[in-house]
Amino acid sequence: MILSIESSCDDSAIAITEIATKRLLFHKKISQELEHSVYGGVVPELAARLHAEALPRILEECKPYFKELKAVAVTTTPGLSVTLVEGVTMAKAVSIALNIPIIGVNHLVGHIYSLFVEKEAHFPLTVLLVSGGHTQVMEVESLREIKTVAKSMDDSFGESFDKVAKMMKLGYPGGPVIEKLAHDGDRKRYNFTVPLHQSPLIAFSYSGLKNSVRLAVEAGSEEDFKDIAASFEHIATAHIIQKLKKYFKTTPPKTFAIVGGASANLYLRASIEELLKPYGAGLLLSELKYCSDNAAMIGRVAVEMYKEGMFSDLNSLEVCPKSVI
Ligand code: KG4
Ligand code: ZN
Repeated sequence: MILSIESSCDDSAIAITEIATKRLLFHKKISQELEHSVYGGVVPELAARLHAEALPRILEECKPYFKELKAVAVTTTPGLSVTLVEGVTMAKAVSIALNIPIIGVNHLVGHIYSLFVEKEAHFPLTVLLVSGGHTQVMEVESLREIKTVAKSMDDSFGESFDKVAKMMKLGYPGGPVIEKLAHDGDRKRYNFTVPLHQSPLIAFSYSGLKNSVRLAVEAGSEEDFKDIAASFEHIATAHIIQKLKKYFKTTPPKTFAIVGGASANLYLRASIEELLKPYGAGLLLSELKYCSDNAAMIGRVAVEMYKEGMFSDLNSLEVCPKSVI
C-alpha cells in the first residue's frame, strides 16, 4: 500500500491506495474553506497552521495500515510553499520512521489521474485543467509525456469565480456560489468582452474580465448580482470554448477530459459537451468528490510512479511553488 498526502492549498488530505489493485482503501480530507471564507481567499499562513493540526489527526487514523506501507507519496509542486512544506515534512517523517521510500508527486498530474481513481488509466487524452491555480490544456500521452499546449497568462478560471464572489461579498470559494447565483440570471444582460478574442494566441486571461465585472458590481446593486454572475460565467466559459475551437483546428480531439475543482461547473461541462459533438470525441470527467483537491488522486499517480521506480531522494526532495509542466 501507499500512503499519500496532499497539502498544496487549503485541503488537508491523506489516502491509502493498494498498489496491486489500485483500490482506494482509505481517504480523508479536512477542508479549510470555512476558515478562509471570511478573508475571501486562502491566507497561506493560516492554511499552514491548519494543516499542522489536521494532517496528524488524519495520519493517526491510518495507523492500522502502517505495517503494509511500501511507500509514502506527497504533493511537492505546484502550490503554496508554506502549505506544501507541511505535507512534505510529514512524508519525510513517515519515510524515516517506517523505512520506506518517498515519492514526490506533481499536483497537476494528480488532477489528471483523478479521472482514474480505482480505474485503469487510458491515454492519449487532451485534458483541460480548471482549478483555483490553473487554466491549462495538456496533451497527455502517458505518465511521463505530458505537454502543456495552453495556459493562463494571469488569473485562472476558478480564481476569477473566487474574485467575483469576493467583490459581491459572498465568501470563499466563489465557484459554487457564483454558479448557483448565475443559474437564475440573464447571461446576455451584461455584454462583457470575451478575453483575447482577437488574439491568435491559444492562451487564457481572466484579469480583464474580472475588472469589467468589478465595474458592473460597483455600478449595480444586489438585485443585479445574479445577472452579473450569469453574464460573467457565460463569458468566462465562452473564452475557453473559443480557444479550444481554435486549438482543435490543428489538433482535433479524440478523447477529451476536464479536471480540477472548477470542472464541477455544469455550464462549462455542457458547453464543452456541445463543442465536442462535431468531432465525435469522448468526454471524461472525474467523480465529483475527486474534482477538487484530494489525496486519492495523489495516491493513484503514486501507484504508477511506484511501478516505474520513480522515487525521490529523501534529502533533496523539496517543494516547488510554480508548476514544472
Ligand atoms: O482543484 P481545486 O480544488 O484547487 C486547486 O488546485 O486550485 O479548485 C478549487 C477552485 C476554486 O477556485 C473554486 O472556486 C473553483 O475551483 N470551483 C468552481 C466550481 N467549484 C469549484 N469554479 C466554478 N464553478 C464551480 N462549480
Ligand atoms: Zn488542485
